[in-house]
Amino acid sequence: MAPWTCLLLCGASLVSGAVLGSREASGKAYDYVIVGGGTAGLTVGDRLSESGKHSVLVVEYGKLSGGALYDITSAPSPGLGNRRFPVDVGFVVGGSSAVNGMIFQRGNAKDYDIWGELAGGNNTWSWGNLLGYFRKGIQLTPPKPEVPADFNLKYDMKYWGDNYTSHNIFATFPNNLAPGMFPMYQALKALPGVNVAEDSGSGETGIAYWMTSTDPRTGARSFARTGHWDNLNRDNYHLLPETKVNEIIFKDNAAVGVRITPSGANTSTIIHARKEVILAAGAIHTPQILQLSGIGPADFLQRAKIPVKVDLPGVGSNFQDHSFTDVSFRWTQTPAIPSHLLNTPRPDNLGRSSLGISLSLPAISPNFSSIAARFAAQDPAAYLPPNTHPTIIAGYRAQQAIYAREMLRDDFSFLRVSASGNPTFTPINIHPVSRGTVLINPDAPEDEPIVDYRGASNPTDVELSVEGIKFLRKLMTTGELEKYGAVEISPGKGLESGEQLAEWVRARSVPSVYHPVGTAPMMPRELGGVVGGELRVYGVERLSVVDASVMTTIVAATTSMSVYAIAEKAADLIKARA
Ligand SMILES: Cc1cc2nc3c(=O)[nH]c(=O)nc-3n(C[C@H](O)[C@H](O)[C@H](O)COP(=O)(O)OP(=O)(O)OC[C@H]3O[C@@H](n4cnc5c(N)ncnc54)[C@H](O)[C@@H]3O)c2cc1C
Ligand SMILES: *[C@@H]1O[C@H](CO)[C@@H](O)[C@H](O)[C@H]1NC(C)=O
Ligand SMILES: *[C@@H]1O[C@H](CO)[C@@H](O)[C@H](O)[C@H]1NC(C)=O
Ligand SMILES: *[C@@H]1O[C@H](CO)[C@@H](O)[C@H](O)[C@H]1NC(C)=O
Ligand SMILES: *[C@@H]1O[C@H](CO)[C@@H](O)[C@H](O)[C@H]1NC(C)=O
Repeated sequence: MAPWTCLLLCGASLVSGAVLGSREASGKAYDYVIVGGGTAGLTVGDRLSESGKHSVLVVEYGKLSGGALYDITSAPSPGLGNRRFPVDVGFVVGGSSAVNGMIFQRGNAKDYDIWGELAGGNNTWSWGNLLGYFRKGIQLTPPKPEVPADFNLKYDMKYWGDNYTSHNIFATFPNNLAPGMFPMYQALKALPGVNVAEDSGSGETGIAYWMTSTDPRTGARSFARTGHWDNLNRDNYHLLPETKVNEIIFKDNAAVGVRITPSGANTSTIIHARKEVILAAGAIHTPQILQLSGIGPADFLQRAKIPVKVDLPGVGSNFQDHSFTDVSFRWTQTPAIPSHLLNTPRPDNLGRSSLGISLSLPAISPNFSSIAARFAAQDPAAYLPPNTHPTIIAGYRAQQAIYAREMLRDDFSFLRVSASGNPTFTPINIHPVSRGTVLINPDAPEDEPIVDYRGASNPTDVELSVEGIKFLRKLMTTGELEKYGAVEISPGKGLESGEQLAEWVRARSVPSVYHPVGTAPMMPRELGGVVGGELRVYGVERLSVVDASVMTTIVAATTSMSVYAIAEKAADLIKARA
């Protein structure tokens, strides 16, 4: 029995939504066809189908459940000793939200204002505008009263939803906090320029405990499938799993459907879209599908023998992820923890929270202004791939001016660390300035795309990592923590000069924490953008992108919460033009 037939018959026992087999879906027409049943795709599907007025089909390559990932290895990064890295994205209904680490964070308010600043035109993208969508999309489980007050778990419901019905996504404070965090919290709080945020969702830099994406009633993962598909049982909301979208079908200049192939089969069929095709295949596969459909850099598409529909150089450019190194110490004298904290409340099986610290450049480096000045003076073309299209260079120049400005400020972070209580850290470049690419393989366009992080291709990223290491050394060996005699394990003794540390960073840093974004950026076409503020793809009609690809610049946080907010807002934009 072919796998899709089994899904048709067996699927009903797995979930009670309208899961289709490809034979049923084949040749059919829906108002909206959504490509990718991941974090954004299912959120948009839920919102567009909830009135009952429109029919929606979500086509997903992965299975209904399980923990699968695509098997992709990056191109080598010359800036990082030619190392290659795994490119992990979810390959299952729910997408990456089904497999991610469940650390649930929001970026700096500035992140969202910068999207608006770069979007041009009528700007409706800003922190102020998105906060309403964060509140609509994410429901808070507040900390339990039995968590000791010393931890100072602050929150304010003005940043969150409080709708505890099933079809929601939850941000949950577990009551399991490592007592060892307490001395770390005090040491960080005492540093100059380090703010204690009033809520981890307040958009401030500084110290805040992060939450987990956990359903407070069951302790199970709260993700796009549980929040926006399971048990909705709507006649007008269908899901077709185990089916790959090969390309978008156009009539004249309008997207009118998609060509699909069921997993394991070798014949494709077409599904029609009456109103819009919505691309939500994530930052790795959305640019691939656009390029396979003839939308991308014309010269490159010609080399890959793909007929050019729209010359849109930005498709697959502007690729970003967070990068990290490992910095660790051991105590010679373990910090004393107040005894009442040692008997923390009974674990509630809602996961484990930790301290997250998001730090501006002035807070980590006395040399912040010279770093900013050097970055501002760069020729942007020098650190982008050879022969980069002038519009992409212009778009990068706009980002460069904004980041150089923000490097001087205290409300935009460049370093993020978590402090679990152990003296080990993975300092993260939270706003890296290197830019990579995601392009189809010209020799095998239907295979996985070529993912090139171009990690540390811009030397400023190495400088930022070096400043992060120096900051952690200072934190651990001076001030509040000095008395515990921390001994450095990594990078380790003997690596003192800026050059030595830079060399260590290039040998050790990893350019991804599985947060790929930016490959269909929301910017004007003259700046290398792929979509405008309405999320519609330039040069064609009835085609939009709703996923992490549209983030022009990456957020100072794990990415899923921001993807949910983008999808909630996108649903309103799409409904408004229905
Ligand atoms: C291992 C891992 C750990 C992470 N940890 C965290 C974390 O702790 N906290 C956090 O907030 N974020 C984390 N993230 C990142 C976060 O989950 C993602 O940024 C977010 O879920 C991306 O949402 P999306 O809608 O853009 O894409 P996705 O959710 O990835 O959805 C894309 C969907 O499109 C489907 N698709 C792709 N191509 C096709 C095609 N041709 N045809 C049909 N379907 C297709 C995919 O199978 C997938 O289901 C992690 C991600 C990973 C992979
Ligand atoms: C901006 O908004 C105005 C008023 O709503 C509208 O007339 C105009 O077309 C919009 N411009 C763009 C670029 O969307
Ligand atoms: C709570 O969420 C459910 C599911 O999304 C929705 O139907 C309901 O209207 C919401 N209630 C409120 C008060 O917003
Ligand atoms: C693919 O097509 C070939 C011939 O057209 C056929 O022999 C083969 O069985 C097909 N494979 C699958 C998996 O359907
Ligand atoms: C960093 O700043 C210090 C003083 O704060 C200065 O002595 C040093 O030269 C600066 N280094 C760089 C690389 O700018």
